[in-house]
Amino acid sequence: MPNVLLTTRCNLSCKYCFAQEKLTGKRMHMPMENVHEVIEFLKRSEYPIFRVMGGEPTLHPNFIEIIHLALAEGMRVDVLSNATWSESCSDLFSRISPTRLLFLLNIDHPDNYAAGIWEQIQSNLEKLKGRQGVTLSFNVFEKQPRSDYILEIAKRYGFDNIRLSLSLPVYKAENAFLPIEELHEVTPFVMDFVEKAESLRISVQFDNAVPLCIFTEEQAGKLLLHGVLDLKRNLRCEPIIDISPDLTIFSCFCLSQLANRNLNEFKTLEEAKKFFVQVWSVYQDAVYPLEKCHDCFYREKWGCQGGCLTYAISKDNGQRYEQLQTDAEDIVFKSENNLALADDVILMRYDVPSETYILRNTATGVEFELNHNLQPILPFLDGTRNNDELVQCFVGGEYGASSLQNFMHNVAAESLSSVFSEMLQQGFLKQVAR
Ligand SMILES: C[S@@+](CC[C@H](N)C(=O)[O-])C[C@H]1O[C@@H](n2cnc3c(N)ncnc32)[C@H](O)[C@@H]1O
Ligand code: SF4
Ligand code: SF4
Repeated sequence: MPNVLLTTRCNLSCKYCFAQEKLTGKRMHMPMENVHEVIEFLKRSEYPIFRVMGGEPTLHPNFIEIIHLALAEGMRVDVLSNATWSESCSDLFSRISPTRLLFLLNIDHPDNYAAGIWEQIQSNLEKLKGRQGVTLSFNVFEKQPRSDYILEIAKRYGFDNIRLSLSLPVYKAENAFLPIEELHEVTPFVMDFVEKAESLRISVQFDNAVPLCIFTEEQAGKLLLHGVLDLKRNLRCEPIIDISPDLTIFSCFCLSQLANRNLNEFKTLEEAKKFFVQVWSVYQDAVYPLEKCHDCFYREKWGCQGGCLTYAISKDNGQRYEQLQTDAEDIVFKSENNLALADDVILMRYDVPSETYILRNTATGVEFELNHNLQPILPFLDGTRNNDELVQCFVGGEYGASSLQNFMHNVAAESLSSVFSEMLQQGFLKQVAR
């Protein structure tokens, strides 16, 4: 689910917070023109939920106007907040139906607040008492989590959902979380917490990727049957897409130090997600944080990726990602370089029902169907000509004038250089410096 980071300001400083690094830099509220752009983007993506977070989203000076705007655009609004908002926010919230406004409220242990804040939170929660669509968020970042207060709050104010997050690590930043090797130490807490919550008719759901092996089969079975764990939701990371105030986007907070893009580079959410899936594919199902993952039945059967992907990326110190950047440099099409067929590429010809040429990269197994009009160019791809020279020899010189006609008619608007560029990116061509 994409999150709109309305602001990088926060009035608290939770130890485990994965946004910390973004909060300490230059503080910024999302300008209204960017709010409009994000709404347009989400609507274009046919994603009707405006999920605000931050920092603390209710600190945005135009928070109320933004909520009105998103609702007027027909969207549902989800507010992720620390529940310290002002009176005017409470007044607005009380006027919006629970079908159009949902809350995920992150409430820390009472000892962790400065004087007056806990009272403010309680007063705000009192105004939401019994409201549908309120989930509380509880983060597990220490081995002996202090959690009784969250169950008391849920009971007192009639909230019947708690989201349980194993605090996620942030790549190359510091926040409180448990190393993957120690996560099994919180298993007794999790089982006990779920039991207490269920006795109060409060349902608990795990958020994010959880290593299955921290549970015995009996424990995992119980958590699955009770809906606390879900094999789709809790074994693998999917790009969330966090949208920053300046429209920088990242896959999730944990990996925000590695790959960033701008919202304008993508037409839809799906496109942005595909981009990040591609980036992280160098780790997902390729690098695991624990030795035992390699022989693991849960990995083979259910695709457990070894908890949050940051564990695997940190293990490799981000090297695969760096390599990906270097490789990406090599596949940036530079028209001055000569072009040659890549080393492991072979050509296969088929003629039923019509002439078809397939380039096969024998190293990767990937195939590329070549427009049959372009087949005569292959002998010229020997590393002695650059793009312009290849085009020249195709439309006149070495390959013959009649090809120009063929080229114009059959390949039509298809530009030869864009075909070269695509072949290069897919590993069918290599560039040779002149
Ligand atoms: C970063 S906060 C921002 C919105 C608001 N200030 C709040 O605290 O809810 C959004 C959500 O991220 C969750 N969160 C923060 N740090 C986390 C971590 N290290 N791992 C998993 N979830 C985390 C919080 O529990 C909260 O529900
Ligand atoms: S979790 Fe929310 S309230 Fe806590 S520091 Fe992070 S942004 Fe602020
Ligand atoms: S893949 Fe790794 S983290 Fe997941 S259950 Fe198996 S051993 Fe545990």
